[in-house]
Order: sequence, then C-alpha cells, then structure tokens
Amino acid sequence: MDVRSAIDTRRSVREYLQESIDHETLQKLIDAASMAPSHMNIQPWHFHIVAGPKRDELVRILNRSTLMLADLFAEMDEVSVEKATRFFSDIGGAPVVIAVSTPDCGDDPYRRVVDALSCGCALQNLQLAAHAEGLATCVLSISFWVKEDIAKFLEMEGRDIVCCVIVGKPAGKTDAPARRADIVTWVGA
Ligand SMILES: Cc1cc2nc3c(=O)[nH]c(=O)nc-3n(C[C@H](O)[C@H](O)[C@H](O)COP(=O)(O)O)c2cc1C
Repeated sequence: MDVRSAIDTRRSVREYLQESIDHETLQKLIDAASMAPSHMNIQPWHFHIVAGPKRDELVRILNRSTLMLADLFAEMDEVSVEKATRFFSDIGGAPVVIAVSTPDCGDDPYRRVVDALSCGCALQNLQLAAHAEGLATCVLSISFWVKEDIAKFLEMEGRDIVCCVIVGKPAGKTDAPARRADIVTWVGA
C-alpha cells in the first residue's frame, strides 16, 4: 500500500473482531511510531500495550470517563449518544489498548504542546502502519478524564497520559466522514 492510499483509506473504527494480535505485529506498529519526528528528537512517547484481562480492567477505568461526558452528549442527537455509549462500554470489542504517555512536564506550556504534537505524529505513523497490516485503530481522547486512574493502574510514575489508541481487526467497513473544505488561506501564493 503506498503512503497516499494508506492516508486516504485509514479509518477510525468502532467495531472489532475479538481476535488477538501477535506481539510481532504490535512491535511493527511501535517501530513505525518510533520513526515519527519529534521536537529536538526528544521522542517523548512511551507506549503501554494492554491486552487480555488487563485490557478488560483498563476498559472499566475508561468507562468511568463517560460520566464526565454529559455536556458533550447533550449536544449530540439520540442515535449518536446511543452509538457512542455502546462503543465506549466495551471499546467496540478491540482486543488491544495502547496508552501513550509523555514525561510529566508540570506547567511548562511549550513542552506540553511540543510533546503532544510529537505524540500526534507518532500516533499517525502507528495508525497508518496498523492499516497497512490489515488492522484498524481509533484514538480515544476520553482517557483524558481518567488519566490519573490509568497512570496508577499502569504503575507509571512521573508520566502524563496523552491518550489511548485501540487496535484490532475491523469487524466491517467504515465510511470516511466528510472533510471540511474551508481549511486553507492562500497568502501570496
Ligand atoms: C486526538 C483524537 C481524539 C479522538 N478521540 C476519539 C474518541 O474519544 N472517541 C471516538 O470515537 N473517536 C475519537 N477520535 C476519532 C475521530 O472521531 C476520527 O478521527 C474522526 O471522526 C475522523 O474519522 P477518520 O479517523 O475515520 O478519518 C479521535 C481522534 C483524534 C485524532
């Protein structure tokens, strides 16, 4: 698969087959993530790969975050709320959750931004590599609401959870959500 078609056909998937993924394949995704650019090549990321019964425990922790989503759900229609609630209840059956973390940078706003940007680059590499392996992914920002609980569960000290990304074999096809067209301003070009 060439890079451009991987970019165009990757989707965030919310329904997975309950098939495990071998370590070798998961390691390939981490290798791809590690090749991402990062500020001053600091490579601030770390990946906790969680599967099996530990994955179920982590999902229960992630589930608590939906209690914090009342405001968001209030803006959504009934069908979307039902869909989101069903997805979050068991993260679509995805067999693997990867928690992405950076060193805790306290209240240094610059470091916070560049660390998060670097992790975003790594995550995109990871997602494209998964797609090339016939796997699917979905980034979960809901982990934000329970990040201290996740860090405690994964016994990470001095690190900050950026987000989680789920990985698995897709259960079906997912259509591409529409893209906005008003995203560029040409200046002198
Ligand atoms: C930073 C980030 C956070 C996201 N958080 C969630 C989430 O909590 N739940 C979810 O279902 N999808 C989440 N997504 C997936 C987006 O909804 C998805 O990327 C978007 O709808 C476009 O669809 P596509 O990825 O299939 O192109 C997140 C994506 C990103 C990049």
